[in-house]
Amino acid sequence: MRHLLSPLDLTVEEIEKLLDLASDIEKNPDKYKDTCRGKKIATLFYEPSTRTRLSFETAMLNLGGNVIGFADANSSSASKGESVADTIRLVSCYADICAMRHPKEGAPLVASLHSGIPVINAGDGGHQHPTQTLTDMMTIRSLKGRLNNLTIGLCGDLKFGRTVHSLINSLVRYTGIRFVLISPPELRLPDYIKEEVLLANNTPFSEVASLDEAIRELDILYMTRVQKERFFNEEDYIRLKDCYVLDKEKMAMAKDDMLVLHPLPRVNEISVEVDDDPRAVYFKQVQYGVYVRMALILTLLNITV
Ligand code: CP
Repeated sequence: MRHLLSPLDLTVEEIEKLLDLASDIEKNPDKYKDTCRGKKIATLFYEPSTRTRLSFETAMLNLGGNVIGFADANSSSASKGESVADTIRLVSCYADICAMRHPKEGAPLVASLHSGIPVINAGDGGHQHPTQTLTDMMTIRSLKGRLNNLTIGLCGDLKFGRTVHSLINSLVRYTGIRFVLISPPELRLPDYIKEEVLLANNTPFSEVASLDEAIRELDILYMTRVQKERFFNEEDYIRLKDCYVLDKEKMAMAKDDMLVLHPLPRVNEISVEVDDDPRAVYFKQVQYGVYVRMALILTLLNITV
């Protein structure tokens, strides 16, 4: 039995195979519509979500399976003090696979140690979000045709943004990747990721505070929201929340084939006037998220078609 807790739980070869499967699902959805008949996914969401929970549920329904779960810790026995370890023990009696989101870093890892079914990390605190990374990778591979030789700008809250942490972890394994880290000093990428991931893999990167300076050279611009829920004080959040706003003026400085990704939800960091620009692909990204989660469910349940 395998779990997906971090993008590094999958080798590059396994990621390529999974993305191939996701592309086949995109092209031939009917071929997969009954592949999970009789199976159930449990979505255990201790923290708010729209996309991740609904896309896991849509993925299982598209595969002919069923869905159980909760969208709010307060409507589960966690509110009475039940531990993650006990919860996953009983969910293992009800479902075949589980996707868990939790505000505490490492909670899905704890669940995996007590689980009788595969556990997928659907986002744990400011740590990792591996299925968003698979979504991002499918978006880039489908629309750029490659996952190597890219200059990728990561912009916004690089300190708390778990999608950024997971994406860096995964893409350092590809050749010719260069990162431009665009953030205010307070929201810089944590040192442990710079040291243990970027420097350890000899991946070139630069750190800048100005999006205007960086945007011209980028193949991909990955915008992120300032993570209000992870701030200790409201004043800091208010001061930093609108530090970057991508608008038409900035897009005019970018390459004609630069892609704009965003894990969403968006707050103010991308002006709605950018949505009609063909380089803005954050809503296509949402659709790719369903295909990769369908592929992941099939892979972790060892179902071949
Ligand atoms: N991208 C993402 O994780 O969105 P949700 O918080 O809505 O699941």
